[in-house]
Amino acid sequence: NTGNLKTAATTFSVGMITRASFINGGGQHTEILKDEFNNLTSEYEMKMNVMYPSQGNYDFSAGDVIVNFAQANNMDVHGHALIWHNATPSWVENFAGTDAEFEAMIEDYITTTVNHFKGKVRSWDVVNEALEDGTGHPLRNSVFRQKMGDDYIKKCFQFARNADPDAILFYNDYNMASSPTKRAAMFALVDDLGDLIDGVGAQMHISYNGPSAANIQAVADGTVSRGLKLHFAELDIRTNPEGDSSVSSLSSDKANSQKAKFKEVVEIYNAIPLDNKFALTVWGLRDNESWLIDFWGVPDWPLLYDENYNRKPAYDGFIEALQ
Ligand code: G3I
Repeated sequence: NTGNLKTAATTFSVGMITRASFINGGGQHTEILKDEFNNLTSEYEMKMNVMYPSQGNYDFSAGDVIVNFAQANNMDVHGHALIWHNATPSWVENFAGTDAEFEAMIEDYITTTVNHFKGKVRSWDVVNEALEDGTGHPLRNSVFRQKMGDDYIKKCFQFARNADPDAILFYNDYNMASSPTKRAAMFALVDDLGDLIDGVGAQMHISYNGPSAANIQAVADGTVSRGLKLHFAELDIRTNPEGDSSVSSLSSDKANSQKAKFKEVVEIYNAIPLDNKFALTVWGLRDNESWLIDFWGVPDWPLLYDENYNRKPAYDGFIEALQ
């Protein structure tokens, strides 16, 4: 295959997730990161439960490993994620102080964290997955909402904006393509943020057989029509959404369907206007490292590389979308 992903994608960044352990391990993993990608997201080490393990005690060491590697290799870093109900330290969940003290603690956490990475982390998922999956997709009843009110999202964006006016601030959530009602709820949430938000992070945890191109395009259209940046944030493409526990390898049929879906997603992203472009991030390097396998408990091959770091047909689909 000629070239590589980051040179083929001339108008947007090609992102990959990583972990401090992968960076420290070096080898083929970091060689491929350097050759193919120009934007890194920490898979889990720049979340609150890792960075803020106890009140007044910050630990940015793992995030610094990722950021230092990115800086050394001329890569941007996307900060994921300041506020997420699934990565809230237990001391925050059980916070004993008043609501005002809670809000002050959150302002201090966001200010301290964004300041620590200022100039090295160009963009942040300020809030991740605030919307429930119930009917109408109301706000989740997280500790942030309970202690800071329904406008906690706006407050957190303001704290981040104050800390680093140059950072690109995103709201990030999932099922944006597969659920039109959740997509509408997300855009209403985004509209309420006004000029505090710069971009929409659409997690693209999808399958070889859906959601449709039309629904994926609707995510792009809604973002572009609002003049916002679009981050196709967490792309992986399940080849076993049927949950068949008996499959032991990726069939060539499924591999080719996955290739076509990667190509479709990249074509849709590549077609948006330059002003709305930011990055397309794949959520994992090798199939065997994907979170999906533990999450669904069945075999799957959702990424661009196999367990031996070989490019799959999916990789070729990504490149073909850009030719
Ligand atoms: O590797 C460490 C190990 O050294 C340590 O002993 C162990 C004990 O905590 O943790 C291990 O790290 C785990 C890490 O994944 C790497 O495997 C963490 O426990 C585990 O919580 C972490 O899960 C991550 C999850 O978010 C929660 O942070 C997944 O990797 C990551 O793929 C997943 O990503 C989320 C996005 O942030 C938001 N969208 C959904 C997506 C999938 O859930």
